[in-house]
Amino acid sequence: LRECEDTQVVGWVDIKPGLAEEARSACGLDPIFTGTDLAEALEKTRPDFAVDVTAPEAHHDVTIRCLEAGIPVLGEKPMAHTLEAAREMVSASERTGKLYMVSQSRRYDARLQAFRRLIRREIGPLGILNSDFYIGAHFGGFRDEMESPLILDMAIHTFDAARYLSEADPIAVYCEEFNPSWSWYRGAACASAVFEMTGGLRYTYRGSWCSEGLHTSWEAEWRAVGPKGSAIWDGRGAPHAEVVVGHGGFHNPVEARTEEVREDVPSGIAGSLRDFLNALRTGATPMGECHDNIKSVAMVFAAMKSSREGRRVPVEV
Ligand SMILES: NC(=O)c1ccc[n+]([C@@H]2O[C@H](COP(=O)([O-])OP(=O)(O)OC[C@H]3O[C@@H](n4cnc5c(N)ncnc54)[C@H](O)[C@@H]3O)[C@@H](O)[C@H]2O)c1
Repeated sequence: LRECEDTQVVGWVDIKPGLAEEARSACGLDPIFTGTDLAEALEKTRPDFAVDVTAPEAHHDVTIRCLEAGIPVLGEKPMAHTLEAAREMVSASERTGKLYMVSQSRRYDARLQAFRRLIRREIGPLGILNSDFYIGAHFGGFRDEMESPLILDMAIHTFDAARYLSEADPIAVYCEEFNPSWSWYRGAACASAVFEMTGGLRYTYRGSWCSEGLHTSWEAEWRAVGPKGSAIWDGRGAPHAEVVVGHGGFHNPVEARTEEVREDVPSGIAGSLRDFLNALRTGATPMGECHDNIKSVAMVFAAMKSSREGRRVPVEV
């Protein structure tokens, strides 16, 4: 927000007394409204939009209160801590006619976008999509206490990227969450899941938040397979592919393909902020608009339900 030339922070609210003022000062912002009362902040500052970066359990109330005050919201992922809460947030956006977008910031990674173009151009509609996420993360705070820290707080990014890459929607999932003996999380810090997606695609997710050493990228490592070949992305450099260029022999002949990673796209949170501002100005539908983002949220809750019930479950929005 500070770095974007089109935005100005006019107020900061945190439920913990003194924290907003402390944060304002630490960020070097000029004196603005700071406090613990959201209604008072909205009343006194009358912002053009609100950014909700509270902990997940607070997203529902904070977002709905802003929307009902007529203020569009750019909220952090995951949209909510339950699917029911997410549905109420989407309804609030419809009822008030105000934009609610979730900042699914990893969609704005130029390398991920290059991978999607490569899949589209060279591989064709996917039948197989795999992702691996292995990072030993010592956060402290709310994640250490959550029941499903990996699936609810992190896998949402990877599931959302799977939808973005495949252009397919989730149908059903079988998932197992587990917590290895050495895990420092209270809840399940690891998971394996298989999603059935539209078009017959199977998307396989393997992840861990308590794997020390040989970390994958935060963007995960990916393999995509379609009728014309395979593409991989290690989540770090540029993606590449091999496509079939003839027939005959034990293996069909293939040729290497790559896709240029564009340097000129704003990435991460800056990318989602720009998408949001453009939507406010033009009425365009941004990525992460709540009606679309809830499909990624639904993948999360269906995976958790499958894991709890030990069976394959439908993914329902
Ligand atoms: N896009 C990304 O890559 C990314 C990265 C980090 C965090 N996040 C998301 O950002 C959100 C915040 O994460 P964090 O690590 O900064 O958490 P944090 O716990 O450090 O900060 C959350 C703050 O929200 C405040 N808060 C809680 N309830 C509130 C309420 N009702 N009203 C006002 N303030 C309230 C807390 O006091 C705390 O200061 C989470 O949803 C998280 O998943 C996204």
